[in-house]
Amino acid sequence: MMRNIVAGNWKSNKSINESREWMSEMSNLEGSMPKDVRVIVAPPAPYLAALAEVKPSNVILASQTVSATGSGAYTGEFTADMLTSCGVEFALIGHSERRGGYGETDEVVVDKISRCIEAGLGVVLCCGEPLEVRDSGGHEEMIARQLDSAMNNLSDVDPSKFVIAYEPIWAIGTGRTATSEQAGEMHTFIRSWLSDKFSQERANQISILYGGSCKPSNADELFANANVDGGLIGGASLKTEDFSQIIKAASK
Ligand code: PGA
Repeated sequence: MMRNIVAGNWKSNKSINESREWMSEMSNLEGSMPKDVRVIVAPPAPYLAALAEVKPSNVILASQTVSATGSGAYTGEFTADMLTSCGVEFALIGHSERRGGYGETDEVVVDKISRCIEAGLGVVLCCGEPLEVRDSGGHEEMIARQLDSAMNNLSDVDPSKFVIAYEPIWAIGTGRTATSEQAGEMHTFIRSWLSDKFSQERANQISILYGGSCKPSNADELFANANVDGGLIGGASLKTEDFSQIIKAASK
């Protein structure tokens, strides 16, 4: 099992042409990429089917979101099955921007995870605390609550299709990264939560990514933690030069 993962989250950025260009640059870099790091990228949903045709073989496509429902009268929604049929292998679930801005409650997160598992779509489950929770020392409790809620129904997971991303909200898009110690502490906490939930063996197979202002200049330090298996990268995933440096940093 390859635990090292670097996942890019483009959010609402890039035109289709810029997206194709990014894929073509990643194709040129493919030979120089480490073999022990899974590379995932989540472009805007309208581009996914087209990008599946041109992406290099080492790049795995993800959606930034997925419907909590199946097919039917749900205007604007796209289902987990639709994504897999377009060559998409993962969906981000519970990103703080969706929890905060688009009603992605803990209940919705549970439904989305079930839909993904049913469809065989991989999950990148995002969790993270806001600044006031960090400042008052409630971060471990809050992450445990988010994980408890999201995974309550799951007696086991396929570690090749279930990834956790710890993203402190105060570090997302702010340029203020968690320190290597803060990331290391939280990842160790999440690993031990997973071990209590499943087993030590299963916990050791699940990738735990750090997200929040991760960039080439701090990736080495963050990934040096034994329990930080890579990153979920927003801003620094937009340029292949930065993204590929972060991928190299995740090789252990
Ligand atoms: P950032 O975003 O790297 O731009 O901070 C990370 C994320 O939101 O996944």
